[in-house]
Amino acid sequence: MTVGSGVSAKRAKRRLALIGHNGMLAQAVLRETANDWSVTGFDLPAFDLTKRDQVAAAVVAAAPDVIVNCAAFTDVNGCEEREELATRVNGDGPGFLAEAAQETGAILVHFSTDYVFDGTKQSPYQAAEKPLWTAQSCSNASTYLPENPVRVFFCKIW
Ligand SMILES: NC(=O)c1ccc[n+]([C@@H]2O[C@H](COP(=O)([O-])OP(=O)(O)OC[C@H]3O[C@@H](n4cnc5c(N)ncnc54)[C@H](OP(=O)(O)O)[C@@H]3O)[C@@H](O)[C@H]2O)c1
Repeated sequence: MTVGSGVSAKRAKRRLALIGHNGMLAQAVLRETANDWSVTGFDLPAFDLTKRDQVAAAVVAAAPDVIVNCAAFTDVNGCEEREELATRVNGDGPGFLAEAAQETGAILVHFSTDYVFDGTKQSPYQAAEKPLWTAQSCSNASTYLPENPVRVFFCKIW
């Protein structure tokens, strides 16, 4: 894996930009893709999802076929205390990725959470499905935010 440089040596493979590559989910994605994909990782401190220009530049440099967004502000209590930052990381950032994906033609994969959809449904969730809102905390609200900008861009092609 190339980290943060935006350039990978293995050009023959399909290219994957792994956002938040140091996190738990990203490491699981990396284990599954390392052999077959050319993975470029992006994470703090070199890459900040809340910086629109940085996001756009990183995606253009990496020229990925697929962007997998695993970056998030996941500290539930921290989200309560730092609502503005949580909103920027979990709300604005995925929107910047969606913009960059649309501009470059990359596929964006974004993960929801059981704070938004509790996973008890017996059939697949649909893109336009409403969240359950089983609780009304700040962290839940900021977690749901990315799905709005991501939907704004991608409902056009779904
Ligand atoms: N893990 C699960 O079982 C699970 C289940 C359901 C859904 N999810 C969803 O999957 C996503 C990732 O979860 P996770 O458990 O892998 O979280 P995690 O381990 O906390 O990883 C998140 C990563 O994002 C990075 N990050 C935070 N702010 C950033 C920013 N501004 N710019 C760039 N990178 C930033 C973090 O860096 P720092 O550590 O330096 O802050 C960390 O490396 C979340 O949306 C979560 O809701 C996870």
